[in-house]
Amino acid sequence: MGAFVCKFFLSVPCPGVGRRLYQWFGIGMVRFMQNALADEYRRLSRDTTTHQPLAYLRLRRAIRNVIQHRDIEPGQTLPSERDLSQALGLSRVTVRKAIAGLVEEGLLTQRHGAGTFVAERIIKPMSRLTSFTEDLRARGLHPRSEFFERSVGEVTPEESMALNLSPGVLVARLHRVRYAEDEPLAIERSVVPASVLADPHEVHDSLYEALEQHDCRPVRALQRLRAVLLGARQARLLHVTAGSAGLHIERRGFLDDGRVVEFTTSWYRGDIYDFVAELQTD
Ligand code: GLP
Repeated sequence: MGAFVCKFFLSVPCPGVGRRLYQWFGIGMVRFMQNALADEYRRLSRDTTTHQPLAYLRLRRAIRNVIQHRDIEPGQTLPSERDLSQALGLSRVTVRKAIAGLVEEGLLTQRHGAGTFVAERIIKPMSRLTSFTEDLRARGLHPRSEFFERSVGEVTPEESMALNLSPGVLVARLHRVRYAEDEPLAIERSVVPASVLADPHEVHDSLYEALEQHDCRPVRALQRLRAVLLGARQARLLHVTAGSAGLHIERRGFLDDGRVVEFTTSWYRGDIYDFVAELQTD
């Protein structure tokens, strides 16, 4: 909506007037966001059921909520640190700490000298074991899946290696396209031991929610990622042109006791996702 409004105002026949109108509109938008954030922060401060005593964590949740409710859209700038601290009666250190956590989570990005923005690409920190559904909901997007396959069958040699299963054991297979609203983002093929998930039709949108129902959500995962060019069929399913850049990801998810509970192969669109890893010296 921001981009549309910008074009609209700048197309006003008298460019000076158009620019002025756009500036006023911009100021209005910042006020609107600031008010939405301040309202949410105050609501959380009053809410005794979810009371969070630390102000920076409360503010972090308030920012997350307004992004989820789409009061602030991807690509929009957050009110400045100074404006937020004045509007909320918080110190700038508190505001900075709240924002830093969301930058680390990939929900916000910062550009030197330009401010803090709601991330437009989906920034996926590699250190957090989250599901597709959780990543999208955190951004206020509605995740959904379209299935090609939900079946049970004998494990193949490749699956038995990945899942540490003996030949002949049964597995549940899910093959689906993952969407944010109507936009396809990834194709995923998941294999789960049938001893954990006997009926793959239990999975509606989220595999991890279904595994959680069985107390079998992975607590650790090994992930292998490589760049690929999407083939004709993959490209068609993902609404991009054949040969576009994609990310091929294999995830093996483990339970506490070391059993492998998931082997998923995914093809993500390269034009939407950034995978970010934090590196430290020993
Ligand atoms: C990501 C991972 C998959 C995992 C999936 C679970 O997409 N790459 O390995 O299976 O999340 O997501 P959901 O619970 O939404 O099905």
